[in-house]
Amino acid sequence: MLKSSDAPTVAADTRSFAFGTAFTDHMVSMAWDADRGWRGMTAGPHAPLVIDPAMIGLHYGQVVFEGLKAFRLPDGVAVFRPEAHAARLRASARRLMMPEVPEADFLAAVDALVGLDQGAIPDDPDVSLYLRPIVFASERTLALRPAREYRFLLMAFLTEAYFGAGQRPVSVWVTTEYSRAVPGGTGAAKTAGNYAGSLMAQEEARAQGCDQVVWVDPVERRWVEEMGGMNLFFVYGSGSSARLVTPPLNGNLLPGVTRDAILRLAPELGIAVSEERVSVEDWRAGCESGEISEVFACGTAARISAVGEVRSDAGGWTVGDGSCGEVTDRLFGALSGVQTGRLPDRHGWLRRVEATGT
Ligand code: COI
Repeated sequence: MLKSSDAPTVAADTRSFAFGTAFTDHMVSMAWDADRGWRGMTAGPHAPLVIDPAMIGLHYGQVVFEGLKAFRLPDGVAVFRPEAHAARLRASARRLMMPEVPEADFLAAVDALVGLDQGAIPDDPDVSLYLRPIVFASERTLALRPAREYRFLLMAFLTEAYFGAGQRPVSVWVTTEYSRAVPGGTGAAKTAGNYAGSLMAQEEARAQGCDQVVWVDPVERRWVEEMGGMNLFFVYGSGSSARLVTPPLNGNLLPGVTRDAILRLAPELGIAVSEERVSVEDWRAGCESGEISEVFACGTAARISAVGEVRSDAGGWTVGDGSCGEVTDRLFGALSGVQTGRLPDRHGWLRRVEATGT
């Protein structure tokens, strides 16, 4: 049974919605143990936790999380594809030997938090409520085995465009020194360690004067996999002959919910899609010949963000004229139109949530 606190939802702070900073007042919490399973879902204030310093999640990284968004529509508030995020959280949990959060509990938590905190979402299509569910091993032991106790938390913050207002195209550094994922590893799971392991390569990208790192496959070090924590799309051709190519889900890549949405929306705009490997050499040659006209990254946080410049050990090149291209722009319009209720939701991707409490 869900209990909500009486704490009021704060009015929106419209001054700064930098990613991961403007948290709302509430969070939802639930516990799991081997004897009783998931139990005791409560909604209360967003507040520090009391944890044991010897908990498994802290030491061995048995932690999985998600990222999904709620948007203000012309006539209410809706969450984008929560069922798909619930499914990916369950898949991540299976890979890390953790208990799966049932879809009904995941959705009840989302409804509770968005019900309480939706008053904070301003009437601005560029600002959304980012929901961060996390499951971590809370058992007090340093034995290296799957824990027998876990916590689920759902918190939220207001956020604007991930790469800043106007979503300027990003520059990327192709790392051949570091790998994000390896065959048989955890690349397809949204687990904390994947992100910790990416920080050094991201720093290398910064040192090279770039915004983001691009990962290639760890064996041949030539096939493009992802950008930072996002999936990549290549636009071949332009106008009515434009087609999209994205690397296939080979077990190393995170199966992006936004990636999946683009694969479904693009054909509705008359843009063909295929999942094919793209090498770094193909990328460079395609941009130099003009065959590749645009490249963009996608994810929940960034939605769709153009890639303008590429640098690598083998030199650098510009994608198109370095600005956000027409296909990227159309897809951004199609995706954000559905998310904010300005275009029809043909796939049933929006879950409307009514306001509760205040
Ligand atoms: C998202 O796109 O929502 C992500 O999870 C990536 C984030 C960690 C920056």
